Amino acid sequence: MGSSPSEFDPARSLATGTYWMPFTANRRVRKDPQSRLIVSAKGSYCHTQDGSALFDTLSGLWCTPLGHGHPRIVAALQEQAQTLDYCTGFQMTNPATVRLADRIAALAPEELDHVFFTNSGSEAVDTALKIALGYHRLRGEAGRFRMIGRERGYHGVGFGGLSVGGIVPNRKMFAAGMLNGVDHLRHTHDPAGAAFSRGQPAEGADRADDLERLVGLHDAGTIGAVIVEPVQGSTGVIVPPLGYLHRLRDICTRHGILLIFDEVITGFGRLGAPFAAQRFGVVPDMITFAKAVTNGVVPMGGVLVRHDIYETFMTGPENAIEFAHGYTYSGHPLAAAVGNAVLDIVEDEDLFTRALSLEPVLEEAVHHLDRAPGILDIRNIGLAAAIDIEPDPRAPGARGLEIFDLGLKNNLLLRCTGDTVSLAPPFISTPQELRDMVGILGRLIATVTR
Ligand SMILES: Cc1ncc(COP(=O)(O)O)c(C=O)c1O
Repeated sequence: MGSSPSEFDPARSLATGTYWMPFTANRRVRKDPQSRLIVSAKGSYCHTQDGSALFDTLSGLWCTPLGHGHPRIVAALQEQAQTLDYCTGFQMTNPATVRLADRIAALAPEELDHVFFTNSGSEAVDTALKIALGYHRLRGEAGRFRMIGRERGYHGVGFGGLSVGGIVPNRKMFAAGMLNGVDHLRHTHDPAGAAFSRGQPAEGADRADDLERLVGLHDAGTIGAVIVEPVQGSTGVIVPPLGYLHRLRDICTRHGILLIFDEVITGFGRLGAPFAAQRFGVVPDMITFAKAVTNGVVPMGGVLVRHDIYETFMTGPENAIEFAHGYTYSGHPLAAAVGNAVLDIVEDEDLFTRALSLEPVLEEAVHHLDRAPGILDIRNIGLAAAIDIEPDPRAPGARGLEIFDLGLKNNLLLRCTGDTVSLAPPFISTPQELRDMVGILGRLIATVTR
């Protein structure tokens, strides 16, 4: 079937469109397929088919903070594949997975000490929403069916995550499939009052009071959970105003509503702490995670769950399945082995502290561009930042794509959503690499907005 690997021409095949790429302007790729093929990666650099070494400005898709090709991860993967490559996760499990659950629970805020594994962030979100529904039902409050998300939120592409998500282009094609009864808080981005903020904006905590308004509108007895990203990642590093998350926590507690932090991006050190919950000092009832848990090497996600929520499920007849949910690859041994290796490396190389120590370097570098022509806003926290570029009024999003293409020619693998460029470089980056990355990006922005 087909050509042998040695005579296969991936660029020619990519140009045909047989491979339908995710979240991609496919027709644009088909015009220049050669530049879109990454053939190898090492450390903070990806190597393309046409010979460029691209600095990985978003750590893959926020998922490879330890860099590519880490020898200890490769060794762990190899050893696990030889020992136990797969085992059913239903009624059986394996030592690597159990150990990883223990270690993740130990990293998390104290009350969150149970872990349910999935294969992605989208599955983690849908799982958390189901746990919320099940929890309320088991406690005799099945009427709490409403889920509250937030504008500009990204919670993956399952129907649950899409419904609570707040990115219009992702939602509108699938409007007919949305969950019932979902409502949204306003987002906290305030370009008029808080543009060019460093870290958390001082103003805006009162936007959490939107939840009180929704409680007034729907009645608390119909609301099961609120889900937010502590820092909104996909729509461009929207940092919570000081006090905002505390306020959301208080309102949820007062009304018996579960608070879910979607930490698929912020989990595992991006903000210099294991989870954003610790960085901000706010403990939710559940945390969803994915991506960096395995450094992106093997897909894995999961949900951290508060002890009493777990215990609520552990009722009924002993031989019953308490939570009729799970995936063929939940707790996959290869993913778990890699997850354990990641935590070993993080501990031995103190990488969360390293991410924290690079925060001021990135902050200085990006805010050096403040109020440059063509830049509308710059935000940052932890080892993450975003730059909003003034859109071309005739073609919003076009400048973002242009900058992405220019990045490929200037040794940067960029992530642009619309006209926003997000940066989340690897924790192993050097300060000079961060400065160079922002310096090149600044020149590219000047080129396209001139
Ligand atoms: C906050 C958040 N939740 C969920 C997801 C979905 O994760 P996945 O793409 O692994 O399904 C993402 C992906 O970027 C995310 O940023």
